[in-house]
Amino acid sequence: MGTALVITSGKGGVGKTTTTANLGAALALLNKKVCLVDLDLGLRNLDAVLGLQNRILYTIVDVIQGRAEVKQALIKDPDFKDLLYLLPAAQNADKNVLTAQSVKSVVEELKQDFDFVLLDCPAGIETGFENAVAGADGAILVTNPENSAVSDADRIVGLLEAKHLEFGPRLIINRIRKNLMNRGETMSVEEITDHLAIPLLGIVFDDDQVIVTSNRGELVTMQPDNPAAQGYRNIARRMLGDTVPLMSLTDAPNQVTEKDQSVSDTTTLKNDKSSEASTVDEPGKTNDSAEETVEPAEKNGSVDTNEVAVSNAVKTDEEDPPKKRGFWSRLFGRK
Ligand SMILES: Nc1ncnc2c1ncn2[C@@H]1O[C@H](COP(=O)(O)OP(=O)(O)O)[C@@H](O)[C@H]1O
Ligand SMILES: [Mg+2]
Repeated sequence: MGTALVITSGKGGVGKTTTTANLGAALALLNKKVCLVDLDLGLRNLDAVLGLQNRILYTIVDVIQGRAEVKQALIKDPDFKDLLYLLPAAQNADKNVLTAQSVKSVVEELKQDFDFVLLDCPAGIETGFENAVAGADGAILVTNPENSAVSDADRIVGLLEAKHLEFGPRLIINRIRKNLMNRGETMSVEEITDHLAIPLLGIVFDDDQVIVTSNRGELVTMQPDNPAAQGYRNIARRMLGDTVPLMSLTDAPNQVTEKDQSVSDTTTLKNDKSSEASTVDEPGKTNDSAEETVEPAEKNGSVDTNEVAVSNAVKTDEEDPPKKRGFWSRLFGRK
């Protein structure tokens, strides 16, 4: 039984769809079976970001209205063997065809077959948001380091907390521009996490390659040396329980350099107690979130982080399958 997470934001254009696609890909690279569900009816751009728009036969609306089975509507991403799938949205459908109950039942069915079901949520706090959250076990809130995005995210935090999802909301700060942040021209990571008061899952730098790849229907995550890709890959590893230090915020250009990698070992957030460090499941151990240690997982700058990630993920799979629920509760659970 998999876990369904809604990717939400409040404000539009902060990177929900980009995050859904790239995080899904990063989890698939770690051998997790992932289904991305486009719930942004009318806009339908997750398929284009994945380069799958020409393969759509049926959409979630066809499934909900009984014209297709879920399995008929799923599109396999050929770049990820059997690990990454999309359930597309309909471009012309009336948004009202989705209900909380219908979304929930489709998601429940997907959870039987997938490790993760990531729900790309429409902007705003209207019906589309309610429907997406209804199907979710937990939420990932995406924001930018801009005041308007953070204040919209703040409203969403309140709404999410009122839903009492199984896993409390986690934060991704997307499109960070180090130079602006370091000059104090945008809110800092610490200020944003303080303000929103939810644990940080990770940061993603603003990078031209995100736009370039997405326009080509490719995923930046597939470029391992790209700084934004590293952000998504780090987040995926944390979701699977790896301890991954935050990437460096101190160097001017958003480039991953050898120096960056070694600096990142020592860069952690003072106020983030939960998600930047996470522990491996141990029987009988009940610390709710991984507060105690930040182990430098990438101590050696020459380590191929992807290799480390894959081997750790496989290890986790082999060692802990029956305890998955408990593990997730500790990683994502409310305090
Ligand atoms: N980390 C990033 N760096 C550069 N551009 C980004 C990044 N994340 C998203 N974008 C761009 O921002 C725009 C909005 O992203 P999108 O994922 O469509 O947002 P949303 O789904 O929240 O409306 C897109 O053009 C996307 O390519
Ligand atoms: Mg979107």
